[in-house]
Amino acid sequence: MRFAVEGAPPRFPESILYSAPVLPPADSMIPEIQTILETGLLNKGAWSARLEREFASAVETGEAVLFSSGGAALTALVRLLASGKKVLAPAFLFPPAALSIVDGGGSIRFQDVSPESWILEPDETESMGDPALVLGFHLFGRPGAPIEWEAWSKRHDVPVIFDAAHGPGSSVRQRPCGSFGVAEVFSLTPSKLVTAGEGGVVTTDDQDLARELRNFRNYGKGEDGRFGSHGMSARPTELAACLGCYSLTLLSEERDRRVRLALEYGAILQEAGGVEIPERPEDEVWNYHEYAIRIHPDEFGLTRDELAYLIEAEGVEVRRQYTEPACIAPSVIGVDGIKGQFPATECLSGELLQLPMAPGVTLQDARSIAQLISEAHSCSGRLKELCRGTGRC
Ligand SMILES: Cc1ncc(COP(=O)(O)O)c(C=O)c1O
Repeated sequence: MRFAVEGAPPRFPESILYSAPVLPPADSMIPEIQTILETGLLNKGAWSARLEREFASAVETGEAVLFSSGGAALTALVRLLASGKKVLAPAFLFPPAALSIVDGGGSIRFQDVSPESWILEPDETESMGDPALVLGFHLFGRPGAPIEWEAWSKRHDVPVIFDAAHGPGSSVRQRPCGSFGVAEVFSLTPSKLVTAGEGGVVTTDDQDLARELRNFRNYGKGEDGRFGSHGMSARPTELAACLGCYSLTLLSEERDRRVRLALEYGAILQEAGGVEIPERPEDEVWNYHEYAIRIHPDEFGLTRDELAYLIEAEGVEVRRQYTEPACIAPSVIGVDGIKGQFPATECLSGELLQLPMAPGVTLQDARSIAQLISEAHSCSGRLKELCRGTGRC
């Protein structure tokens, strides 16, 4: 078996895309778009109200509050719950999520993630540095220990919220992500399982919090029409909300498609030396927002970056998230003066690789990509020289 890095033709000459948005057929939405444009109701209309209702129902909460972005939603939530206070967050976090905490007036304290589960887990014996708020994270679609965090939250009387951008369709013990803690925050960008083009959603059972969030996204303007409290301009548009409603109907089918792909990848990769696949507990459903594997370089024979170079030469797009997680991103460190050692996060940032999950990826593609990785491991001695030092981001 020869590889493209050795001069063989690429195994996937048509190229395999990493991801693409899952969208409804265009003609199904045209009449709705026409109506929105004809009525001139471009915001604060029926579609926004409907998406809020349907999102809340999908995650089994009393309330869902739409925003123009997930970042704005998280900023608003932190501003209302922990402005001027300490917010505990996972070191292995999307950097803009950390910046939303800063924008909300919170001061971040990072905590390293578990080297086994890759998520932030509560240390049951510790106060975790006495934060005023904890941000959990459903990383790559794996629920971020929400049952454990809820128990910790109760014991320490500290509210917990979740970055649920990767979480739609995932659940623990049949409780959907979106329903945990005081509130959860979704993003609706095109890479998410539910998309509105752009947008964000806070889900919560707290009606007062929901009302404050609705005021906040509308310049802080209250129901009495007065600019009574701090706020921002972060309303959704009706066009986006309409797309969001259509997209939400596709969620469970898309989640199930990803579960099938993950099974195909896993069946082959679990036998490949040096490849770690996260183990899904039986009582959890993962949406596989990302299918992430960890490459242990000594055992595998190539580094994650060398393997990424080899795979991309074969015509397969892969991702390396997060090569610069929040705890080391210059923008975050610059703002908040963060110090600390995060050894698990540091390892993960150099060893995690995400494989394609785009709608066009077939089960056969997943088997062939997994096979390619397995063969790269078997031939790593020969390939090492060709790939050495390549693919670094
Ligand atoms: C994990 C995570 N958190 C937060 C965000 C921010 O969401 P938005 O881009 O809608 O502001 C994203 C967006 O990609 C994300 O992936």
